[in-house]
Amino acid sequence: MTEQPHQTGFVSLVSAGPGDPELLTLKAARRLAEADAVLYDALASGPVLDHAGPNAELIPVGKRAGRPSARQEHVNALLVEHARQGRRVVRLKSGDAGIFGRLEEELIALVDAAIPFEIIPGVTSASAAAAAADLPLTRRLTARRLQFLTGADVTGGLPGDINWAAIADPHATTVVFMGQRNFPALAAGLQKHGLDETTPALFAESVGHPQQRLIRTTIGDLAKLLEGANVTQPGIIIFGPLGFDP
Ligand SMILES: C[S@@+](CC[C@H](N)C(=O)[O-])C[C@H]1O[C@@H](n2cnc3c(N)ncnc32)[C@H](O)[C@@H]1O
Repeated sequence: MTEQPHQTGFVSLVSAGPGDPELLTLKAARRLAEADAVLYDALASGPVLDHAGPNAELIPVGKRAGRPSARQEHVNALLVEHARQGRRVVRLKSGDAGIFGRLEEELIALVDAAIPFEIIPGVTSASAAAAAADLPLTRRLTARRLQFLTGADVTGGLPGDINWAAIADPHATTVVFMGQRNFPALAAGLQKHGLDETTPALFAESVGHPQQRLIRTTIGDLAKLLEGANVTQPGIIIFGPLGFDP
């Protein structure tokens, strides 16, 4: 594509929320309506894209674990390329764009290319899952710390640098993103580090989508449920002193 150096566009890195379009922020909806091009992830598709204007070019750049994926460098290059055509570009990312969304690589590409940008925060699937299950993420006196963890590293395996003392803390709420496949191993490690297997756990699948599924259980029983499970939907796991009797 020919570069047009005198026309620099603008990139809005927009948080799409968990999927329910009513959980988009007003700012996100406005940027979508004004966009010339929308580069969206698989988890940021569906009805939220209805907010894009009729002339917006919709470009899927989805990355889902275990499925064919657009390489990150390709996404970075596309962002720069579209902006250099003087377009208003929305990069739509699931949940909150700043949480486990490889935002940093895209920021670096934009800074290196001197393309102006903004980041629009949004509703992470962690908050949406807790709200869907009528649960707070923190509780006065009993859950005074909240931690977000990825349950898979670049190889798909359990990260090797887990801070077990932190995540086995019975006074913290822990949210595990991308954790279904490795949860049995994670739960075994938690129990080895002293967290009781009856600790409450919420498994929230496809939050904000019609097929949403919520299971209130324990870390021990959730490990059994997810052992060998065929994972096809996005799911988040929250455990700790959640305030319900499983
Ligand atoms: C690449 S991370 C992106 C997280 C996103 N930035 C956020 O704030 O929710 C993808 C993971 O987020 C979680 N996730 C995203 N959307 C979800 C949804 N609608 N329901 C349940 N989990 C979701 C899952 O753990 C999924 O594997």
